[in-house]
Amino acid sequence: MSEERPVIEVKNLYKIFKLGEQKVRALNGVSFTVNKGEFVAIVGTSGSGKSTLLNMLAGLEGPTKGSVRVAGENIEKYNERQLVKYRRDHVGFIFQAYNLMPTLNAIENVALPLTFRGVDKSLREKKAVKALKLVGLKKYMDHRPTEMSGGQQQRVGIARALVLEPEIIFADEPTGNLDSVTTEEILHLLQDLVRRKATTLVMVTHDNYLASFADRRIRIKDGKIIADERNGELQENV
Ligand SMILES: Nc1ncnc2c1ncn2[C@@H]1O[C@H](COP(=O)(O)OP(=O)(O)OP(=O)(O)O)[C@@H](O)[C@H]1O
Ligand SMILES: [Mg+2]
Repeated sequence: MSEERPVIEVKNLYKIFKLGEQKVRALNGVSFTVNKGEFVAIVGTSGSGKSTLLNMLAGLEGPTKGSVRVAGENIEKYNERQLVKYRRDHVGFIFQAYNLMPTLNAIENVALPLTFRGVDKSLREKKAVKALKLVGLKKYMDHRPTEMSGGQQQRVGIARALVLEPEIIFADEPTGNLDSVTTEEILHLLQDLVRRKATTLVMVTHDNYLASFADRRIRIKDGKIIADERNGELQENV
């Protein structure tokens, strides 16, 4: 269960894209808090602003206005060097397209983020093996991405996010390329990992059923939060 300790605090967040004369309010005044150990789904239809929001939380893009406080740090004030360090040390990413290195096997793919942290080879391998066991891929450690199914590749992607033992994991449509059975398996795995490791997980999805696996659903429409539900209960209606 989540402790009442905020790890993400978003206040009055705006992201306005200018396209010539036109302005797109991708985020139009968003505020919320996520506690440690929560599994939160950000739900909305295409173009509602989900990826834009996730990119701000992950420090991939700066907001037009407002603040993003993660683990006690105001990342909207960070310069590019600080953002690189923030992404490296505090957050893990799971991508829809897996983004694995085709020439590397599962262990090497999972170990890769640790090389950027300067962890030595034997420890890298040990941690990678542990993370792969956690996602149930013990038998596939020597396989390259092309020698694995989509679901197995995404498990490697999850292990790669876990290996850094990040405070927060961000996932943008992590099961977008998988069939419905594999999708359920991956969501159960994510649920289980969040519970066991007390990791915070923020997952973007357009799918209400997938969002139902989360402890909480933040619904977003036209760059605004329209509902915030926890365990089926409506908490706020903004
Ligand atoms: N770099 C950009 N430049 C201009 N407009 C952008 C940019 N990125 C996003 N937008 C616009 O901001 C709005 C929100 O986009 P966003 O990608 O966050 O939506 P989304 O909810 O992730 O959609 P999807 O489910 O299709 O991935 C859209 O209207 C989009 O066209
Ligand atoms: Mg998106």
